[in-house]
Amino acid sequence: MTRILITSALPYINGVKHLGTLAGSMLPADVYARFQRARGRETLYLCATDEHGTPTELAAADAGMDPAAFCAQQHESQYDLGRRFGLSWDHFGRSSSPQNHHLTQRFAQELWEAGFIEERITQQVYSRTDKRFLPDRYVIGTCPHCRYEAARGDQCENCTRVLDPADLLKPRSAVSGSSDIEILPSKHLFLRQSLFADKLRAWIDEKKGSWPLLVTSIAQKWLDEGLQDRGITRDLSWGVPVNAGDWGPNPDGATPDLEGLAGKVFYVWFDAPIEYIACTWEWAEARSQASGTGPATLQSWERWWRGEAAADVTYVQFMGKDNVPFHTVGFPCTLVGANERRSADGAWQVASNAPWKLVDKLKGFNWLDYYGGRFSTSQQRGVFMDQALELLPPDYWRWWITANAPEGDDATFVWEQFQAQVNADLADVLGNFVNRILKFTETRFEGRVPDGGVAGPLENRLIADVSAKLSELTALLEAIEMRKACQALRQLWVLGNQYLTEAAPWTAMKTDPERAAVAVRMGLNLVALFSRVAAPFIPFTAETIAEALGQNGTGTWPEPDAGLNLLAVGQAVRAPEVLFRKIEDTQVAEWRDRFGGVAEA
Ligand code: MF3
Ligand code: ZN
Repeated sequence: MTRILITSALPYINGVKHLGTLAGSMLPADVYARFQRARGRETLYLCATDEHGTPTELAAADAGMDPAAFCAQQHESQYDLGRRFGLSWDHFGRSSSPQNHHLTQRFAQELWEAGFIEERITQQVYSRTDKRFLPDRYVIGTCPHCRYEAARGDQCENCTRVLDPADLLKPRSAVSGSSDIEILPSKHLFLRQSLFADKLRAWIDEKKGSWPLLVTSIAQKWLDEGLQDRGITRDLSWGVPVNAGDWGPNPDGATPDLEGLAGKVFYVWFDAPIEYIACTWEWAEARSQASGTGPATLQSWERWWRGEAAADVTYVQFMGKDNVPFHTVGFPCTLVGANERRSADGAWQVASNAPWKLVDKLKGFNWLDYYGGRFSTSQQRGVFMDQALELLPPDYWRWWITANAPEGDDATFVWEQFQAQVNADLADVLGNFVNRILKFTETRFEGRVPDGGVAGPLENRLIADVSAKLSELTALLEAIEMRKACQALRQLWVLGNQYLTEAAPWTAMKTDPERAAVAVRMGLNLVALFSRVAAPFIPFTAETIAEALGQNGTGTWPEPDAGLNLLAVGQAVRAPEVLFRKIEDTQVAEWRDRFGGVAEA
């Protein structure tokens, strides 16, 4: 039996996330995790806040707080919002955890001692006005590739290219806005990614065809442009300190320049992916504390990540397209580098008998836009997680976002389309079906699953159609095709509606009560099926439906050919409160006003 390890890109700590972040990583990861658990697979779904780097320092400064206090507060807020959206993390960790400090430092040490890290004097942007170095997002300027004028020093938001602050044209400080800038030398550590080019290319070639084209083509582009060695340290104070004092000599016999590296921290993109592993350790720690069995053992978390013990793990990552380079190049270099060594003559050797696992399936997403323009945290453009929950319950959002997942292409959020789709799918198709049949059971069958009657051709056809659709849905979820999975689920609901319309127990009741009993029993079993298969997508509603059927939870994922007999005859059922209230035109008008529903100029 495979175990499933799932991570979604770690949200930056710098404020409440918008629906785009939810769409591109956390929500599809959750749907997939819920599906895998329901299939009975041992599943670990991990996420954490990404707490280091310039985005954090800038946001903390804006809030007038020190980074540590700011992160503690924002972590709680993101945890709370995620939970309210139904994100079923097994653990929601923090990249600032002691576990991540420990592992980040250990990986760096191993990489140094294995000959994959090099010291270099680099030219850094220094602000005379702010009297400090300005790494990454501390510098804003014009992108040298696409001429976007508000590019940040680490990556251009417009063309997604990864940048070096010194590349920016017309650089200015993000702290003070001042362009009184000079370039000063500073010692830094570089991960020699260029050495990994062949290995990574072979690995990506292997994944072609099974990973989304979006992902392999981004990775390919990077490899084709020639892998650059990457600076993994920064002139910042908030982060994981560089622990070079602990390191032994590298294969050439050199030891690190302690003076030159004093006071530096690791680059956020070096420590953040390592948090995927550290988070597993945090999870194990939290579990053993909860059960009072003392500190977590190495085995308890390494079994998800290393060597033979992890041979049965399938590791699945979810992320937006801007994150793909870091997960197809950066992080794999860290892991492969820790698994191997380079001798002084440049030959590679296996360094570990318990090598770290690389990702097996990488699901990348395009952008979810807001009226054709980007959601933006800095400009507060679009709908944010906290606001969304003020307007409507989480399942409305979960459904729309998953059904419109930006898989093949960018998708865009528009209030009217959101309203139309949610009203049609959830209120008219699903909600109406569930209420109609349960109300009828209450009034005409004393609120119990009726006995009597035998299935006829109509039922046999229904069972065959449902079974085929269910196989399709199951296969689509296995393949992580979220949009198509939503379509298949909607079609299942439609099959139920069509059946009830044809079987029409309300009319059969008068002429042929046995027929009516069969139809109602089928209808109720469809409701039970819907609650199980809708649970990964709209877990709150699925739970309400299961309760209305007297079921203890939404249960396991049904086998496609199991037929329609999930409910015992005689089981007491009741009609739930209205499952989905329709979104009114007046609400849409109000929300469009409030959030700004116009295309970006
Ligand atoms: N915080 C990053 C973002 O929001 C994602 C980090 S993913 C990890 O784009 F690999 F670093 F963990
Ligand atoms: Zn650009």
